[in-house]
Amino acid sequence: MVTLIAAMDKNRLIGTGQGGLPWEGMPRDKKHFRDYTAGKALLIGRRTFEEMSGWFGKDHQPIIITRNPAYDPGEDGHVAGGVDQAMSLAAESGRGELVVCGGAEIYRLALPFADRLILTLLHTTFQPSARGIFFPEWQGADFEEISREDFEGDALTPLSMTFLHLVRRGRGQHTDC
Ligand SMILES: NC(=O)c1ccc[n+]([C@@H]2O[C@H](COP(=O)([O-])OP(=O)(O)OC[C@H]3O[C@@H](n4cnc5c(N)ncnc54)[C@H](OP(=O)(O)O)[C@@H]3O)[C@@H](O)[C@H]2O)c1
Repeated sequence: MVTLIAAMDKNRLIGTGQGGLPWEGMPRDKKHFRDYTAGKALLIGRRTFEEMSGWFGKDHQPIIITRNPAYDPGEDGHVAGGVDQAMSLAAESGRGELVVCGGAEIYRLALPFADRLILTLLHTTFQPSARGIFFPEWQGADFEEISREDFEGDALTPLSMTFLHLVRRGRGQHTDC
């Protein structure tokens, strides 16, 4: 099973284009991401992997997608040249689910394989830089909404947001998250 997990603003903005997220300090979303990805095989674009350097632990199986077969992903990482190969690596490791953690290039490659989307929708529009990076547009008709949780901003996480869980139609409902 392939899952895409991402946080985006109202225009699907996910990155500044200069390395980094358009927002800072969202503990609620960070916890959501940590909880969902724990113990799973993760597919990560080489740029995002380097940006999140040190974040991935032994609990994860990070698979870094790069065109450089000699890339050194560190002690616990693996390298894949494409989504197919990453899916095989995840299956071989016995971890049933491959969670695609971005960035934009990798979301675009993986969207056609996605069985589910775990999205954090921020109720805000950020001003993108000229090189703003966006989550790819998905066909609403292809996916069914399984759950939605709305959160108001608070002192810790000032931005209000929705956690949305979508499953591709025709592939059954997965409710274990
Ligand atoms: N808001 C969110 O949820 C979220 C999540 C993750 C990331 N982000 C943001 O997204 C941005 C990074 O995204 P990005 O699109 O620039 O980079 P990326 O998707 O993280 O990584 C791109 C790299 O992946 C490799 N790649 C791309 N297509 C490939 C293919 N067909 N076959 C093999 N390898 C391929 C290439 O690595 P090589 O150059 O090594 O060949 C390419 O440079 C950052 O700003 C980050 O903060 C946001």
